[in-house]
Order: sequence, then structure tokens, then C-alpha cells
Amino acid sequence: MRDASKNYLMRAARIAPGGVNSPVRAWRAVGGDPIFVVRGEGARIWDVDGNTYVDYVSAWGPLIAGHAPPGVVSSVVEATRCGTGFGAPSPREVDLAEQIQLAFPSIEKLRLVTSGTEATMTALRIARAATRRERVIKFDGCYHGHSDGLLVRAGSGAATFGIPDSAGVPTAVGGLTSVVPFNDLAALRASLAADPPPAAVILEPIAANMGVVAPEPGFLEGVVRACHEVGALVVFDEVITGFRVARGGAQELYGITADLTCLGKIIGGGLPVGAVGGRADLLDLLAPSGPVYQAGTLAGNPIACTAGIETLKLLVPDAYRRLEETSAALEAGLRAAIADVGACACVQRVGSLLTLFFGVDRVRDFSDARACDAGAFARFFRAMIDRGVNLPPSQFEAWFVSLAHEPADVDATIAAAREALRAAEEP
Ligand SMILES: Cc1ncc(COP(=O)(O)O)c(C=O)c1O
Repeated sequence: MRDASKNYLMRAARIAPGGVNSPVRAWRAVGGDPIFVVRGEGARIWDVDGNTYVDYVSAWGPLIAGHAPPGVVSSVVEATRCGTGFGAPSPREVDLAEQIQLAFPSIEKLRLVTSGTEATMTALRIARAATRRERVIKFDGCYHGHSDGLLVRAGSGAATFGIPDSAGVPTAVGGLTSVVPFNDLAALRASLAADPPPAAVILEPIAANMGVVAPEPGFLEGVVRACHEVGALVVFDEVITGFRVARGGAQELYGITADLTCLGKIIGGGLPVGAVGGRADLLDLLAPSGPVYQAGTLAGNPIACTAGIETLKLLVPDAYRRLEETSAALEAGLRAAIADVGACACVQRVGSLLTLFFGVDRVRDFSDARACDAGAFARFFRAMIDRGVNLPPSQFEAWFVSLAHEPADVDATIAAAREALRAAEEP
């Protein structure tokens, strides 16, 4: 019974486009009406009708410690008592920045912003200023937020809604972005060699917005080498992977470094924070040190920084061991269920990021992802929500496992998936 959610959707649809404030939340790709969520605790959420679900959306990634971790909540409440923002430097910005810097050796300096979109937008502005070049290269199906120049062949919601090239992006701006297939070094080399010379290559080192697609061995090293050979900068968008696949993100996991790194999600612990960091000479191009303008009324907000600092405190080495254990158990259970049911599907996982793809046995780039059976995913999604499991409502997204997911949650998810896989088989 989801009547109260339906009522809210009716009210919302009168005032908000599609009834939502971010497109994928509308469940258009999977059918049905979205649930309106009132509460989260640990691995669970509750909707306005009182139904409860095991949650793998995890606010789209920030909630690596689960919903409302007590230490984070109490520190945020405490911080709020001192004021919600000052528009002046405050100590928590420094504390959070230092924690980030300790985790990412490639980040000598950083600027805090309020979203991942701002982080990637700013990174490219810095790269263009540093190289005095304008063209950038991105990978097909990678999503870097919704700024004009990056909504070209974009993944995530843009892919979900079949508009990877958004309307409203000026041709002149979109034309400064070249796109090559993920995991394809030859295509990247060809684009790097083309005119005009590129300022930067931006990528999700582990693609997570076309579903989860790991970089093939040698791919990331090849990207860095090829870029540097032609004087282009390497921008790793670690908005999802930062502090998730390891404390130091994909850079730690694969032992590689970027010139510029974009962060978001986990570093705000569920509140709005993003960051762009990297080589000091590049970051010093930002105003007031240098000529690249960037600013933010709420940048470094003390409440958001507090949530980030407290979340990062929970990410001790043992936390990553636990995340791996839980996620591996989920992957193994899903694979067994797929085999038992005889479903045509595969599971791809890196750490606590996982996608179950329908209709294919492997995805290495966006054209493979687009060949998936999105209809089967939609049926699977609806069967899962009816069984109390809340998945990201699109084939092109990652499931986010958190520290709050217990073995019992994983078992319940696998049992539900076994039934839902059968439902997905029947169009
Ligand atoms: C890899 C990546 N980069 C950038 C963004 C944009 O972040 P935000 O939604 O905070 O603007 C996202 C959002 O999902 C993302 O997944």
C-alpha cells in the first residue's frame, strides 16, 4: 500500500517538473510511482505509508555509514547550535580539507564547493587556464554532473532518459567536448592527437554511471601516460569512488595519481559538499591566488563539513574490510540466484559498488551497457520494491552498499532477488 506516496506525488507533480527535484527519482525508467521517504536508519528507509525497505540507493552514494549514524547526527546537531553558516572562513573547513589531503597524496591543495557538478566544472576551468587550451575529452557514459560542457554522451539520469546530449546546451559549448569509449586506449590516443590539442581528459576511474564498469588492467595508467605525452591534464572524477573503494579512492586502489581530483558525496556525509583538489600550482590558479574565478555562498558550510568529518572518522581500515565482506557476499548470492533461475544477467562489482545487468554477460563500455535489457531490469526493480528492497531505479546506476548493511539484510536481498529474477523473466 503506497497511497500516501501517491498523494504526495500528485501534489508534487503540480509544482515540480515530473514531481521531483532530480530526474531519476521519478522512477520513469522502471515504471510505477516513486515512494516518498520520511526516515532512514542504518540500512533501512521508511516511506510515508509506513513501509520499510533495505536501501541500496544510500542517497546516491554519500551514506557509506548508512542512514543517520548516531555520531554524525549528534555532531551535526551540536554544530548547528553554534550557527549554520558564517560566510567567513571557519575551522571545520580546514579540518575536512586536511582529512581529504591525508587520504589523497595527489591533492596538495583543494577548494571546497557544494556539489560534484561544481567540482568537475571548476576542475575543467582550472585545466583550461593552466594549459591555455579549450577542448576536453570525456568518456562515453561517464557522468560528471550537469554543467553544459559535460552533458555530452553523459551517463546516469541523462542515459536513463535517453538524453545523453541534453537540449539547451549551446552547440559551441558541447563542441568543445570530445567523447571516446571507456576502456579504449586507442580511441583516446587518436582523440588526444587530434586538433585542437586538449586541455584535459576527465573520467570516472571506475565508471559507475553506466552501471559499474571497472577499468581494464593498464587502462588508467595508459590514460595518464597518453595525456602527459601531449601536455593534457588528467582529471579523475572520484565523486563516487572517493573514500568508497578505498579511503584514497580509485587512486589508492590502483596506485595511480591524477593531476586534478573531484570529490563529493561521502565527504559531505549526506550534506552538500564537493571538492576539487590536486597539484598546488594548479589550485593556486584559483581566485584570490590566481586568475580563475570560482566562488560559493555556502562553500565550506560548517554543518556540511561536520557531517563529512564525522563520516570520514568512521572509515578506518576495518570499515573497508567489512564493506568488502558484505559486498562480496551480496555479489556471490546474486550470482548464485542468477544461475539457479537461469536468468540472462551478470553482476559487476568494485568494492561496495555493484550493478546487476540484464541481457548481457559483460559490460566494458557504454555501448555494452546500452545493449542491456532495461525492460527486464524494470520488472526486477518493481519485484524488489514489492519485496522490501529499494534499488536505484535505473539499469545505468550502481547499488551502494554501506557499513550498516548486516548479513541479514544481504540474505533478505538475495532471497528477494531470487524471486524477482523469475518475475523479470516474464514480460
Ligand atoms: C561521478 C560523478 N560526478 C559528478 C556528479 C555530480 O555530483 P552532484 O550531483 O553532487 O552535482 C555525480 C553525481 O552523481 C557523479 O556520480
